Amino acid sequence: MKNIKPRKPISGRRAFLKFMGAAAAAGYVAESGGRRTAWADAEGGKQIRLSSLDIAMTMQELGEGRPMRNLSTKGRPISIGGVRFSNGLGTRANSQLIIDLHGQAMKFTALVGVDSLVENKGNYFPVMFVVVADQKVLAKTPVLRKGSPPYKIVADLRGAKTLVLMVLLAEPKIIPMPWQPSEASTPADWADAVITMVPGATAKPVTMPSTYQQEIPEIASGDGKDPAIHGPRSIGTTPGRPFLFRVPVTGEGTIHITAEGLPAGLSLDTQGIITGSVATAGEYTVKLTAKSRLGTATRKLKVVAGVYRLEQTPSMGWNSWYVWGFSVNQEHVQKAADMMVKTGLAAKGYAYINIDDAWAGPRDKNGNITADSKKFSSMKGLADYIHSKGLRFGIYSSPGAKTCAGYTGSYGHEQQDAATWAHWGVDFLKYDWCYYGLIAGPNPTHAEYVKPYAVMRTALDKVNRDIVYELCQYGMDDVWKWAAKSPVYANDWRVYTDLADRWGAVVGTIGVERSIYPYAEPGHWNFAEMLLTGWDPQGNNTLVNGLTPHEQLTQFTLWCLLASPLFLSCDLSRMDKFTLDLVSNTEVLDIDQDPLGRQAQCVLRGTGVLEGDMQVWARQLWDGTMAVGLVNMSPVPQTIQINKWDDLKAVLTADVTMAGRQSVRDLWKRRNLGMHDGFSAQIPAHSAMLLKVGKPQKF
Ligand code: GAL
Repeated sequence: MKNIKPRKPISGRRAFLKFMGAAAAAGYVAESGGRRTAWADAEGGKQIRLSSLDIAMTMQELGEGRPMRNLSTKGRPISIGGVRFSNGLGTRANSQLIIDLHGQAMKFTALVGVDSLVENKGNYFPVMFVVVADQKVLAKTPVLRKGSPPYKIVADLRGAKTLVLMVLLAEPKIIPMPWQPSEASTPADWADAVITMVPGATAKPVTMPSTYQQEIPEIASGDGKDPAIHGPRSIGTTPGRPFLFRVPVTGEGTIHITAEGLPAGLSLDTQGIITGSVATAGEYTVKLTAKSRLGTATRKLKVVAGVYRLEQTPSMGWNSWYVWGFSVNQEHVQKAADMMVKTGLAAKGYAYINIDDAWAGPRDKNGNITADSKKFSSMKGLADYIHSKGLRFGIYSSPGAKTCAGYTGSYGHEQQDAATWAHWGVDFLKYDWCYYGLIAGPNPTHAEYVKPYAVMRTALDKVNRDIVYELCQYGMDDVWKWAAKSPVYANDWRVYTDLADRWGAVVGTIGVERSIYPYAEPGHWNFAEMLLTGWDPQGNNTLVNGLTPHEQLTQFTLWCLLASPLFLSCDLSRMDKFTLDLVSNTEVLDIDQDPLGRQAQCVLRGTGVLEGDMQVWARQLWDGTMAVGLVNMSPVPQTIQINKWDDLKAVLTADVTMAGRQSVRDLWKRRNLGMHDGFSAQIPAHSAMLLKVGKPQKF
């Protein structure tokens, strides 16, 4: 894996993140030079100003503005309770800065509080400052509010290896959304902050303590030699419209696939691809068989044919955005389709090849959308190519006159665009919000939030093609409460801001997901954003690989528990062994694809270093077992304990019990762990463990 880099400003992306009013990524440090940064103190220590360190490493979850050196996050002088400071770190809650001290520090001092920037805001949340070293809280302020005078913090750091400086929202205990700027975050500063080190020693901000940063989690590789069938157990379609499904099968040698009980209108070809169109609405149970000289596997596949029945299990695929961004072209997309098959990911259930923003050219003289001819020679040709491999083709647009990246949007041309996409052979639409803000105005009503998505729904209904409908408006107006229903009938919706490769934003998403589990069900999913795994091609244009391997494992584990659509956005031709093992463990993918469609709940939350950072997530599965995630969001290892399985019973339906001893399997390691009546494990920093608990009742 590549070394973790300090975050760099990325002008294009930042520009439209700002335009959307979404959280600006941490990563830009304002310079204001000319000040003394280090000096010797009376006891022989070396005093180092916090502001002289690489404060770009500050992970700030939410809100406008960025962590700033010697200024508040909006670039104004630091001011706490009416007192101005020329030195310090300006940030916003929730934020944390981790500093490697190598056991060579002596003392930390600072004057802290809510920045007067907050005075322009009606609503805000009070904050607390917490200083933690090696899992122990060394200092903590009371709840600090607007106008509270600077509060003096003194912490004895002798012997400490890792320092964590945290600013936490004190009330309420939920993480607010980034598009609620007045509530999103509270500006708060570490003024006159100084670390005293032993002479000659240095303090270094990091995203993780250096001991954990590059550790690669131990996970199992690949599937066995025997034939096995993977992917969705339930698949939706509209009668009379084209159907396409490549049966995902692994195993060695020639594998012969058969399908018994296909509904009238569908047939299976020799490559294991089912096509046609279902004649009559209904639910059909198909028996799939995969046979090789090594053995036989069977699996039931439910075909659900009806109106608005698509995406019975969360979509799995690839999206061009993080890897190719503005430069996406036909060759990139075609290659992604090739690699999907060649790497074996298609055989595990990944099915969509989606182009994100930056494909569109101008409209022609009749107002029809065209693809940028410098990048794409033929969209229809591309779709045919993708379909020939049994994969599906997705596209992106925005309801405004332009897309987020400034390309042609669908405003006023929705019906024409839907018709063009259907003609090309589009199977999936990611529909953003950008530039619609100019039409809806600054404080849209609920009706205005719904309108552009209802307009596109009507357009999609009029074309004779199944197009999975994904909203990408970052969760505004509690999108999960209305997107699945009339008049929008969306299949999935993004719940939060762009993640780029920010661990802080991953944490923010997980916070949002905690309360929205009731809205997930077959056909309707909370999309937690793309997976931040793998490599980007140039190493600097996009940010696919800024999470540590353990952080990537945590994201993948949670996304499967959350029943989120799974979209890779890395270069599929450059996946190292860890990345490939991570994204292709079919036992883990099976959790995401579970046909019951119940999103995991965060059933236990304990505090290690950060508030609520030791978490247990659980979801019931269709076969009567339970998937359980032990998640450590803390920057140091933690032991996470489940006393008894019954403590998780809130996630179970009435007919399932988990009392007493149950069999436990570690899905990442693909290893049975025996019978247990509870469970406890030490989980590395920012890492997770995924268990399957109980005996399957159905097959
Ligand atoms: C953003 C969206 C990203 C990406 C980008 C393209 O609004 O959240 O996922 O699609 O637009 O410009």
